Amino acid sequence: MRVFQIEGDWGMDHLRLSTRAEPHAGPGQVVVQMKASSLNYRDLVVPNRGYGSHTGQLPLIPVSDGVGVVTEVGPGVRRVAVGDRVCPTYFQRWISGEPDLERLTQSLGGPIDGTMADYMCLSEEGVSKVPAHLSDVEAATLPCAALTAWSALVTCSHTQPGDRVLIQGCGGVALFGVAFAKLLGAHVTVISSSDERIERVRHMGADAAINYRTTPEWAKATRDITGGRGYDLILELGGEKTLPQSLRCIRPGGTVAMIGILSGSAMATSLGLIITRQVRLQGVTVGHRDGFEAMLRTIDQHQLKPVVDRVFAFEELKEAMAYLQSGAQFGKVCLAH
Ligand SMILES: NC(=O)c1ccc[n+]([C@@H]2O[C@H](COP(=O)([O-])OP(=O)(O)OC[C@H]3O[C@@H](n4cnc5c(N)ncnc54)[C@H](OP(=O)(O)O)[C@@H]3O)[C@@H](O)[C@H]2O)c1
Repeated sequence: MRVFQIEGDWGMDHLRLSTRAEPHAGPGQVVVQMKASSLNYRDLVVPNRGYGSHTGQLPLIPVSDGVGVVTEVGPGVRRVAVGDRVCPTYFQRWISGEPDLERLTQSLGGPIDGTMADYMCLSEEGVSKVPAHLSDVEAATLPCAALTAWSALVTCSHTQPGDRVLIQGCGGVALFGVAFAKLLGAHVTVISSSDERIERVRHMGADAAINYRTTPEWAKATRDITGGRGYDLILELGGEKTLPQSLRCIRPGGTVAMIGILSGSAMATSLGLIITRQVRLQGVTVGHRDGFEAMLRTIDQHQLKPVVDRVFAFEELKEAMAYLQSGAQFGKVCLAH
């Protein structure tokens, strides 16, 4: 079967189209014929061994997100049957409950082989059936970015109707965040570097938006949107350069969901604000299967469609990665197998 794998050494130059033997299902396992994949920021980091020893070992099949059809089930499999369309879950062993080291280290596309293969062999516990109204490419966008936004809004902070939510940028996690926050009845503010994206995200339902390029001190402008009260929840995607401002527009007792470090990973901020405003800094690492399946039911119930920007062919993985790196996309960058 065809695979993309990082082989020989780390680095984008060592990411190659290759072949491996087709897998077969053992007890409790399923074989999934992959139909589509989608890219996340982390997929650009993995080929360069950007997560150190947690990145995994070579050869490694990259990319965490995808969808496929079950073609074979091993003895004892009960959760799915041949013909079911499933997404592999991002964390293969985090089914529910609190995170622990074992649950948080078994992620697809590093250190475990990912979705850029014709077939994957997975535990039946590591796949979830996907809603019928989604195309393969749309379903492939869900395991990482969508679940991260869902976990921030629902699992980790219980967003209520009328809550004020601030979301940074118009990337993959952010756009799912806007869609879910609107479903939950929240008032949504987005900050973005682009007026064109702001217009598009307003069409998706964002209630307010600020261009952080033309308004670099966006903390005051966004706090004013809340009538001075501040945000109940901020999806913190920028990290180093954005957190100081987030701490100035979060409401006392509010939650900053720490998700991304797009502008740097150091913490250079006034720790006093965290104390005096009794702010909760909540790290979010994608989420568990229970959360994923609750999210899938919600997507089904509301017939929600993910935003797909562009679909590349399987063989065009490197072109798709370069496109993601360029930042030109609005919505998910996908691959049809
Ligand atoms: N913790 C987790 O479980 C988890 C899961 C998924 C992703 N992440 C992390 O979350 C971040 C976003 O991932 P993604 O896949 O959504 O990335 P993405 O699709 O590449 O999104 C990038 C977007 O973020 C916005 N952005 C960049 N720098 C910004 C800044 N300084 N301030 C505000 N917005 C900024 C930009 O939006 P505009 O063009 O609109 O300005 C950019 O288009 C990454 O750091 C990723 O590693 C974490």
